Amino acid sequence: GNGERDKLVQAHELAVKLYHYLLMNTTHGQPALQYLRSRGVTDKQIDQFSIGYAPPEWDTLARFLEKREFDPALMEKGGLLIGKQDRSGYIDRFRDRIMFPIWNRDGKPIALAGRMLGEGQPKYLNSPETMLFNKSRNLYNFHHARAAMRKNRRVVLFEGYMDIVKAWSAGVQNGVASMGTSLTEEHAAVLQRNADEAVICYDGDNAGQAAALKSIPILEKAGLKVQVAMLPKGMDPDEFIEANGANAFMREIIEHPVSATKFKLLYAKKNHILLEEEGQKNYLLEAVRIIAVLDSPTEREFYLKELSREFDMSLESLKQDCFNERQQLQ
Ligand code: UTP
Ligand code: MN
Ligand code: MN
Ligand code: MN
Ligand code: MN
Repeated sequence: GNGERDKLVQAHELAVKLYHYLLMNTTHGQPALQYLRSRGVTDKQIDQFSIGYAPPEWDTLARFLEKREFDPALMEKGGLLIGKQDRSGYIDRFRDRIMFPIWNRDGKPIALAGRMLGEGQPKYLNSPETMLFNKSRNLYNFHHARAAMRKNRRVVLFEGYMDIVKAWSAGVQNGVASMGTSLTEEHAAVLQRNADEAVICYDGDNAGQAAALKSIPILEKAGLKVQVAMLPKGMDPDEFIEANGANAFMREIIEHPVSATKFKLLYAKKNHILLEEEGQKNYLLEAVRIIAVLDSPTEREFYLKELSREFDMSLESLKQDCFNERQQLQ
């Protein structure tokens, strides 16, 4: 019921405060603080995103909540604690991790994500789905980003926590992240109510680019105009900002997205060996198929012309192939 939900939000609020305090004000938190600083995270960012540290002990949060008379069974249902196998008590879900609160649309913490201090698996441990936290609906940073989103009618999509934190300080205050889950129609519907355009800014690795390709039609179906801000190969937004600074990120990446069609063409190109005749022909045909789905004749001609210049083909033949493709689409 509502009582349970309120209790669970209260517990999350306390957990966030506790973890933030432990990070900033105790010797236990020092390695975590050092780790964050080594990654260029500032105290201001730590405060803005209420980042914290869950210590390595088994029951720091369990005892803290118990003292305040929270029902441990409810805390387990909410993902904060885990019941011991022998049912003799409860332990903390998050131990020895840097903690990122995840908020609902009203800015209430409803879940947590914990990052390991170094390498290891899983890199991030997230709260499970609970009565408060629905992964296919919730987007990280939505409550922060909402005002800027509505003002610019634009949203920027990132993959993860660190990207959001860094991009925020770099000047992207309309950014949200789907936290490792693929973007859903529900996510897209929420975004469409607040923006007209979406800029995808996923990691510059294969996984990120493949995810971008999958997100495009989901966003378009929801009615959003989609562009893709591409990063150098293998870099994610957080790494780009650390390496090149906020200005370069804004000017070179965020302010220069390519159209969804251009992105699909670039993506397709990588799968063909353009130095070979077969590779060139196959790419051309695939490119024409990508262009053929565009509704606007002007847009189709725009991209076909680009192709015709790039490969020294006549526009007529490309248009004819495009026409044939469209016949098959119907
Ligand atoms: P990435 O692997 O790109 O991590 O996953 P990252 O965001 O760059 O993390 P840092 O910079 O190394 O700290 C993108 C997102 O996928 C989710 C997280 O939301 C992460 O931010 N993820 C990733 C998980 O939930 N669990 C994982 O083990 C890894
Ligand atoms: Mn603080
Ligand atoms: Mn990634
Ligand atoms: Mn990443
Ligand atoms: Mn990263």
